[in-house]
Amino acid sequence: MALPNGVVESTHELLDAHAHVWNHIFNFINSMSLKCAIELGIPDIIHKHGKPITLSQLVNALPINKQKSNCLARLMRILIHSKFFVKVKISEDGDENEDGYYLTPASRLLLRDEPLSMVPLARAMLDPILIDPWHHLGEWFHSDSPSAFATKHGMSLWEYLGIEEKWNGIFNEAMANDARFVVSVLTKECKQVFEGLKSMMDVAGGTGLVAKGIVDAFPDMKCVVLDLPHVVAGLEGENNLSYVGGDMFESIPHADAVFLKQWIFHDWTDEECVKLLQKCKEAINPSKNNGKKVIIVEIIVDDKKEEHEATETKLFWDMLMMVDVKGKERTEKEWAKLFVAAGFTSYKITRVLGLRSVIEVFP
Ligand SMILES: C[S@@+](CC[C@H](N)C(=O)[O-])C[C@H]1O[C@@H](n2cnc3c(N)ncnc32)[C@H](O)[C@@H]1O
Repeated sequence: MALPNGVVESTHELLDAHAHVWNHIFNFINSMSLKCAIELGIPDIIHKHGKPITLSQLVNALPINKQKSNCLARLMRILIHSKFFVKVKISEDGDENEDGYYLTPASRLLLRDEPLSMVPLARAMLDPILIDPWHHLGEWFHSDSPSAFATKHGMSLWEYLGIEEKWNGIFNEAMANDARFVVSVLTKECKQVFEGLKSMMDVAGGTGLVAKGIVDAFPDMKCVVLDLPHVVAGLEGENNLSYVGGDMFESIPHADAVFLKQWIFHDWTDEECVKLLQKCKEAINPSKNNGKKVIIVEIIVDDKKEEHEATETKLFWDMLMMVDVKGKERTEKEWAKLFVAAGFTSYKITRVLGLRSVIEVFP
């Protein structure tokens, strides 16, 4: 079969290529079906039911138009395919007669009251505020706008968050939920990184959830959260935790260690990251005898022996950074280049956080 450019393909190859294009055109349907399930609260209803739930029980429990039960079955079918639910046989009086839907490990993370719930992250990331800029990506390539977000909204994401109070809340809640997840893994699997530190600056630490978790786990440590004034406004410190409003590119108060949890360096260009790393180095240098290190949690792309889905997810993050801010995800080589440019001499990578790594950087 001849393609327009004259390349001859077998029918089989042509059909595969056709199906591949279809799959990618419709890839957004996975995200939007997931969004709908979260909005309807389907995971919570199944969880509350305590056992597999039949379609009619699910329809009855949901405040939806009951004539749409067939459509709900179709929504559940695609979500079973994408591993958010499983269908099991319900046996009553020993007879296996009806199908019931049940949760998977992924949909357990979509329960609203779960401490590690990913609902706030899904809510923020799938909001039209962050989806609309994707429609402007092509236009952005032609322009000198810093991001497709700025092309669409006429300002940077950070400026937008500074003026849209409601959206700032949604965004910070998404960050805070991820923070809970990160802190639960870090304090369990990565104790050695924080042990012995007397003081730490959590730079761009949002509302301080990670810092709270860390001072709870290491009560001998004093931790200060630095973030933009509108983020820390009104936040009260407690025990060993305090807040300071400021600009991390201007100055970072001194401490044994500077901690930058994921979603900081990836927001910025290489030049900005070098500047930030230099500020971090200035902050840890006066403390002569203690930890003297910068602790970073971020994605490293192109990791060896990685599964296809893990690489794809990291590339999604990289594109997200291009569209919403001016940043990117980096390979180990790119990270090393930034560390050298900022005057650091060595680094150590610990892979304990799934798609993310802990990087300790030493002056
Ligand atoms: C993506 S969030 C990450 C928040 C937090 N580290 C977390 O993971 O939950 C990026 C943070 O950088 C903060 N930020 C942006 N520019 C900043 C600046 N110039 N100085 C201090 N913080 C800044 C934002 O307010 C936001 O809280």
